[in-house]
Amino acid sequence: MRVRKAVIPAAGLGTRMLPITKSMPKEMLPIVDKPVIHYVVKEAIEAGIDDILIITGKGKRAIEDYFDRSFELEYYLREKGKLEELKQVEEIGEMVDIYYVRQKKPLGLGDAVLHAEKHVNGEPFAVLLGDDIIISQKPAIKQLIDVAEREKSQVIGVEKVPEELVGRYGIISGEKIGEDVYMVRDLVEKPSPKEAPSNIAVVGRYVLFPEVFDFIRELPPGKGGEIQLTDALRNMLPSYPTLAKMIEGRRYDVGTRLGFIMANVELGLEREDIGEELLTRLKQLVREV
Ligand code: UTP
Repeated sequence: MRVRKAVIPAAGLGTRMLPITKSMPKEMLPIVDKPVIHYVVKEAIEAGIDDILIITGKGKRAIEDYFDRSFELEYYLREKGKLEELKQVEEIGEMVDIYYVRQKKPLGLGDAVLHAEKHVNGEPFAVLLGDDIIISQKPAIKQLIDVAEREKSQVIGVEKVPEELVGRYGIISGEKIGEDVYMVRDLVEKPSPKEAPSNIAVVGRYVLFPEVFDFIRELPPGKGGEIQLTDALRNMLPSYPTLAKMIEGRRYDVGTRLGFIMANVELGLEREDIGEELLTRLKQLVREV
């Protein structure tokens, strides 16, 4: 089993980031000087993926423009001798083969993934949510792919979250079967803290079998009237044993205000060009408040 293809759902409305998402996809919000989705695509490429399908929707054209070549801009930068900038812009246009499919209505993550069925064409595939950035030594999706290929199993990326936050995530229960790997017994979407079987949360990275499409198709709308991927994965459990891998890395949910700001601050601090000055200014600011 080899995972070559990745699907990046990016068609959600992003209501938690309104009003900016009224006219701008949340996947295009800048983290320092690159859009969120740049980090996600890069993670997939660094994991050895060479074919990426982005699920887009209404108002998401900026994503396609970003990954496209921009000959006018390249010409202008060359004329002006801005060669470093030219290199950066050219590299983005040549990153990898990226394909697009439109989800006409935002009917949920399960429905978005279902739009990948034709493209995936019967192969196991990776899913990376377009609004979760994970910074890690080994790319987060590669951590999952290694387990999936070794165990010939579906794998869900998970992370421990504080108990009061379980209601924002899909939560799993399961037995630990290896270092950072669990056999999933059950999965619940956004449980109340009382119902939650654990604090192990599903965090936006998956390796899935193509059979998942059949299970998504059978689903009635779940919580919030949306077709939930979690529900399909739960229904698969009896016939497709599924593993969960605790992801090593720092995750930013940039679809939330705090996650977005933290990503900018922390990744800004790591930058050679602005990191030092940003730290000085932050220290100053903290002393003042
Ligand atoms: P979210 O749960 O963050 O939903 O989706 P959302 O609608 O984008 O954001 P809020 O809750 O309104 O603020 C997780 C991922 O699934 C994609 C999103 O783009 C995001 O990457 N998604 C969600 C779709 O592609 N289609 C959908 O119908 C829903």
